[in-house]
Amino acid sequence: ERGGYPHFMLKEIMEQPDVWSDCLLGRIQGDRVVPEQIGLTPEYLQRVKHIQIIAAGTAYHAGLIGKSLIESLARIPVNVDVASEFRYAHPVMEPDTMVIAISQSGETADTLACLRLARELGHFTFSITNTVGSTAARESDAVAYTLAGPEIAVASTKAYTTQILVLTLIALALADIHGHPRPDLVRGLLQLPLLGHQVLDVMEPVKDMAERLASGHDVFYIGRGRDYALAMEGQLKIKEISYLHAEAYPAGELKHGTLALIEENTPVVVIMTERDVADKTVSNILEVKARGAEVWGIVDSSLPVGLPIDHRIDVAVDLPELSPVLAAIPLQLLAYYTAVARGEDVDQPRNLAKSVTVE
Ligand code: BG6
Repeated sequence: ERGGYPHFMLKEIMEQPDVWSDCLLGRIQGDRVVPEQIGLTPEYLQRVKHIQIIAAGTAYHAGLIGKSLIESLARIPVNVDVASEFRYAHPVMEPDTMVIAISQSGETADTLACLRLARELGHFTFSITNTVGSTAARESDAVAYTLAGPEIAVASTKAYTTQILVLTLIALALADIHGHPRPDLVRGLLQLPLLGHQVLDVMEPVKDMAERLASGHDVFYIGRGRDYALAMEGQLKIKEISYLHAEAYPAGELKHGTLALIEENTPVVVIMTERDVADKTVSNILEVKARGAEVWGIVDSSLPVGLPIDHRIDVAVDLPELSPVLAAIPLQLLAYYTAVARGEDVDQPRNLAKSVTVE
């Protein structure tokens, strides 16, 4: 049932390109996303003026990438909140706010409470979930399934990347209807499964990186924009299954707080797929290098050679907006191999449930 893999987590990481095809199938026609295929109508999308995303854990990190995509492509303001915070925060929402709940299981108690609150306040509720017929799906006005298939490993991988894909489809559908069509990105989505296979084919160096992390005490993840959202997911993944201390920081924020924790040989993983701010991140790499950090870069392969990093893992980024799902792969594998090297129970990490149905 693990398809020849030693753990479900590895199987689920490896099957991502195929799962992405399933997730995209039928949802794109020519240069456009078909709104009805993600549970929405053009008439409704036209009316959306604000978006509130709520989620927990990994799904929250997908939501952060969704915010960046929706805001930059469709120019619609988006808030993202952790469900357990949102439900007690006396939230203020503008009329015509679309509330999006993201949940692999569709059963997370805090996320469901937010959906109910949003409905009580009279908002349109929309769920992105992997579980057909789940409570989130049943209790929302509309639903889009991630179609990732059953995810058995507790640490989420393929559910996360398909959540990002569905959010990308929403961003592109909104962008089209609000007058900012991006046919290049819509077509580009269909290339992702192929690019995903190419990324998976060159992941050997991640094993060396994992060996190095496994024997240490901590690791920092830095990036800007969507790369920071990826950094947060990278650090969560490694903490969840390897129990290594990990911290994610916006690359430009290190010097306002934690830079003093970077010492001789502290491992730092820098994610660089956002070309617009690559040179800014380079200066942050120099800051950590000056303190002796050992730096691994997960970088857009079009960036020049000679970046001030010690180890480079290239991700073939064609269109930066579509790169998060590709850059997620080395981060997932890094967490996986680090946990394996430390002898941990990868699929059943301690103190973590697949779905938390109590508060
Ligand atoms: C946690 C899981 O309890 O809940 C995480 O261990 C998950 O893997 C989070 O990301 C949210 O779960 P869901 O089902 O709402 O996406």
